[in-house]
Amino acid sequence: MVHSLLAALFSLILYCSSMAELTRFFHPAKSDGTLSLLAIGDWGRNGTFNQSLVAYQMGVIGEELDIDFIISVGDNFYESGLRDVDDISFEESFSKIYTAKSLQKQWYSVLGNHDYRGNAMAQLDPILRQIDSRWLCMRSFIVDAEIANFFFLDTTPFVKKYWKNPKKNQYDWREVAPRKRYISSLLKDLEIALGESAATWKIVIGHHTLRSVSEHGETPELVKLLLPMLINYGVDMYINGHDHCLQHISSTDSFIHFLTSGGGSKAWRGIIMPTMENLQFFYDGQGFVSLQLSATDANIKFYNVFGDVLHEWKITKEFYDYIV
Ligand SMILES: *[C@@H]1O[C@H](CO)[C@@H](O)[C@H](O)[C@H]1NC(C)=O
Ligand SMILES: *[C@@H]1O[C@H](CO)[C@@H](O)[C@H](O)[C@H]1NC(C)=O
Repeated sequence: MVHSLLAALFSLILYCSSMAELTRFFHPAKSDGTLSLLAIGDWGRNGTFNQSLVAYQMGVIGEELDIDFIISVGDNFYESGLRDVDDISFEESFSKIYTAKSLQKQWYSVLGNHDYRGNAMAQLDPILRQIDSRWLCMRSFIVDAEIANFFFLDTTPFVKKYWKNPKKNQYDWREVAPRKRYISSLLKDLEIALGESAATWKIVIGHHTLRSVSEHGETPELVKLLLPMLINYGVDMYINGHDHCLQHISSTDSFIHFLTSGGGSKAWRGIIMPTMENLQFFYDGQGFVSLQLSATDANIKFYNVFGDVLHEWKITKEFYDYIV
């Protein structure tokens, strides 16, 4: 009896580990089926460079929209991520900054390139939740929020130049290298998950840009390897940071919208490259984004440090979208 139980358990463990799939979290929508959230990126600077002002306005808007959770699109701690799990920056740049009542919700975070320059594994360590229970950072994972599925992706390993010049900046590739194997397994897992998703809204989150008219421009590795998959599976939005600004770029060949929410602290780089045809909005300063989702509508808003709405639009899914 004990033996057969052990054998069953053992084969279950083997089965699970052989289907390396993305970790999935369930986050219920509100009782009326809707969902509200904020997205912020490129922030951890001990409150400086207007990080505290952005945090304050996030608190105000978070209250107004009765948000369910917060998304961080990476570059969580400057300049080089966390040193270890005891790094005081975790409290100085996170716990003591986002203090508003409305921000005492779950934070779902991915890593940015600056996070990889420190001890990347420290940010992933669940022990941080003992210091601040809001914190949840993983390399790649899914949040199933009923009407919407959020696919969080670890985009830093895609970027070839980070692997090439180890003298300039050291990247913490533990549990990642070799690059090729890591990204092909991630793309395979993502494709399965996108194919299985029956949610009305499919939203993909990663630190690096797909479309951008600012400093970093497009990330060619992601445009080549990731974008065709997102279009193929009818992803509604891709949300990134990396460029320290706010942007909205739409598409002519698909329904996907590209959102940059990289205005969490240091901004004003003064860089905008020749305008893209589909550029809907660009703001070179600090701010953040809100999403309000229902079974038929998505309302998206961009805010500055004063809480002013700088840009907003609405996506409506008609009934026929579901039957075609
Ligand atoms: C934040 O403060 C800590 C502790 O004083 C310091 O080690 C860290 O470099 C600071 N970070 C930034 C981005 O200024
Ligand atoms: C803080 O925000 C204000 C208003 O947008 C801006 O004028 C100022 O330059 C910002 N400060 C920094 C350090 O970016």
